[in-house]
Amino acid sequence: METGTILVTGANGQIGTVLTAELRRRYGASAVLSTDIRQAGSNNILFEELDVLDKERLSALIAKYEVRQIYHLAAILSAKGEQNPKWAWEINMAGLFNILEAAKDHGLRVFFPSSIAVFGGMTPRVNTPQYAVLQPETVYGISKVAGENWCQYYHQKYGVDVRSVRYPGIIGYESLPGGGTTDYAVEIFHYAVKGQTYECFLEPDSRLPMMYMPDAIRATLELMEAPPEAVKIRSSYNLAGTNFTPAEIAREIQKHIPGFAVTYKPDFRQQIAASWPESIDDGYAREHWGWEPRYGLAEITADMLEHLREYYAASVS
Ligand code: SER
Repeated sequence: METGTILVTGANGQIGTVLTAELRRRYGASAVLSTDIRQAGSNNILFEELDVLDKERLSALIAKYEVRQIYHLAAILSAKGEQNPKWAWEINMAGLFNILEAAKDHGLRVFFPSSIAVFGGMTPRVNTPQYAVLQPETVYGISKVAGENWCQYYHQKYGVDVRSVRYPGIIGYESLPGGGTTDYAVEIFHYAVKGQTYECFLEPDSRLPMMYMPDAIRATLELMEAPPEAVKIRSSYNLAGTNFTPAEIAREIQKHIPGFAVTYKPDFRQQIAASWPESIDDGYAREHWGWEPRYGLAEITADMLEHLREYYAASVS
């Protein structure tokens, strides 16, 4: 497939960090332009600062680098968005419009990440279907529902080749999440490996859909590489990996680190979690483009602990 340059927004974020590296592995370092609001770290080979609200700069970068695809990952997540709803709305929506307009003008393929946050308290929580009530209770969720619908609109009206999945909580060792409700499921591993007690901001029995980073990256690339006719849903696909509660992940970690302790101090994020599904029916993703997750809780836990042990061992030596 002729991809031209691939532009990633939010490339320094939790998913962007890992996705950018994988895109570079597949297509070559110089084929992937990473962008973010600011430079971070040292491994950004081809990097430009980009505020997604700045559509002139976006256009200039598209022209300069002959961009053919955009992975639009820049967004304000669920918990952080609640601190400043209008700001979150502005970044999430105006940012997406700039991307969709550029895609329309330049004929680009776009990836838009949606989320389990599109669902709310009126939605069935177990095996939540693709076409369920979408009445989210966070500004993040509202922006993702609107975003999904705008993606479908740009596809239907202007033929924009836009593709999207509703990510569950994403767990990985290479990067840290920021401002989400599912962040606990990454933080808990860092505390465990450092030998510290973890204070969890959700209730012990708060079950949420989750996915390991390698599954999330593979799903994203499989969707983006699928033939256009296979992508029959142009709003956003339900996507499932696994699901678990804080108590279950703590027990799984204790199989490797018996002394690990978790305490519980639920905050406002518990209410957000309680409005989200426990598990997701991703039958359309499986049927349309062959989606199949590989990692369950046991595999995630073993792999996370192994990598984080290496990471912390290297950082103290
Ligand atoms: N991980 C996200 C959040 O917690 C959900 O998409 O906000």
